[in-house]
Amino acid sequence: MAARTRWGIAGYGWVARDYMAPGIAAAGGVVSAVADPSPASRARAEAAGLAAFDSVEAMLAADACDLVYVATPNDAHAAPVAACAAAGVPVLCEKPIAATVEQAEAMAAALGDTLYGTAFDQRHHPAHAAMADAIAAGDIGRPVAVRIVYACWVDPAWTPDGGEHDNWRADPVRAGGGAVIDLALHGLDLSERLLGEPLTDLSIQLQRRIHDYPVDDGGMLSGRTASGVLFQSHVAYNCAEVLPRRRLEVLGDRGLLVATDTMGQTAGGTLVRRCGQSGAEMPVAFDTATSPFAAQAAAFMAAARGEPHDFSMTRDLALMQLFDRAYTEARRWL
Ligand SMILES: NC(=O)c1ccc[n+]([C@@H]2O[C@H](COP(=O)([O-])OP(=O)(O)OC[C@H]3O[C@@H](n4cnc5c(N)ncnc54)[C@H](O)[C@@H]3O)[C@@H](O)[C@H]2O)c1
Repeated sequence: MAARTRWGIAGYGWVARDYMAPGIAAAGGVVSAVADPSPASRARAEAAGLAAFDSVEAMLAADACDLVYVATPNDAHAAPVAACAAAGVPVLCEKPIAATVEQAEAMAAALGDTLYGTAFDQRHHPAHAAMADAIAAGDIGRPVAVRIVYACWVDPAWTPDGGEHDNWRADPVRAGGGAVIDLALHGLDLSERLLGEPLTDLSIQLQRRIHDYPVDDGGMLSGRTASGVLFQSHVAYNCAEVLPRRRLEVLGDRGLLVATDTMGQTAGGTLVRRCGQSGAEMPVAFDTATSPFAAQAAAFMAAARGEPHDFSMTRDLALMQLFDRAYTEARRWL
């Protein structure tokens, strides 16, 4: 039997522990090592039987992994990605690429030939793959608009580790912004995945409405693709968690696809198609057992084996540049 692909994780925090590590295991890989400057995070890794290092460079020097997944705060993505590129080790890096577009551009320049993917896990969600197939098959006719609600509640003092780390998401330097940089890029990337064409125009309205922190707690985005499909997205840190807050719709001239509770980290949710003539609603089948993180891990391991893939720094950087122009303009009025 072929040896299982060994993943090293840079930044063993919330998303790495709760979502990516189980996703790697479900995809048939194994997490072998962790690099994290936090003694508490390293202690958690060691308790899980993993080799723990205080830097990515030390983890790479020990030849402790075949691939690296980077899940550090946004302004700490660039250094581990550059270290992987220097070592020629494929690297999957959490979204956004970085806290600023300048950091993202420097990362792209440092990559060389090393395989890089941005961890837009939602493009790998089986429901979203089924939506893309349905759209490509013409099931809703000619696409007209993508409409998204993706929201949550992020308290100023929120931390998944019981107060051990502060809330870097509310820090403009470490996060690069607030709700919008954290949440909106998922939908922007998904739109391109579903339609097969990128957005060419984007504008953003921001608010700091509920929370007392120096970053946006909500945003409304609107855009369009070159062929004229419209894009709309409301993202928020100020929406109570018990309310409906994860919805993705694609309207075509012959129908509507509606995905509920598929945007996020977990498997499942629902997907229906409504007929544009009768209004009748039909369920669309998809694999409800596979999480977007498991599907993403499988796709990245296949890419590292040289199989066809759609990870692309060129595409992701172009999206980041479009996003940054709109976000920079919007923050002038915040
Ligand atoms: N795709 C998703 O659905 C999703 C969900 C949550 C978070 N994220 C992204 O994942 C990243 C991490 O978010 P989180 O919520 O897990 O954060 P977190 O604060 O829970 O964990 C971050 C970890 O990184 C460590 N760290 C900090 N600097 C480091 C460095 N230079 N090298 C190595 N480790 C370092 C910290 O000690 C901590 O253990 C962010 O970029 C975030 O946007 C993505």
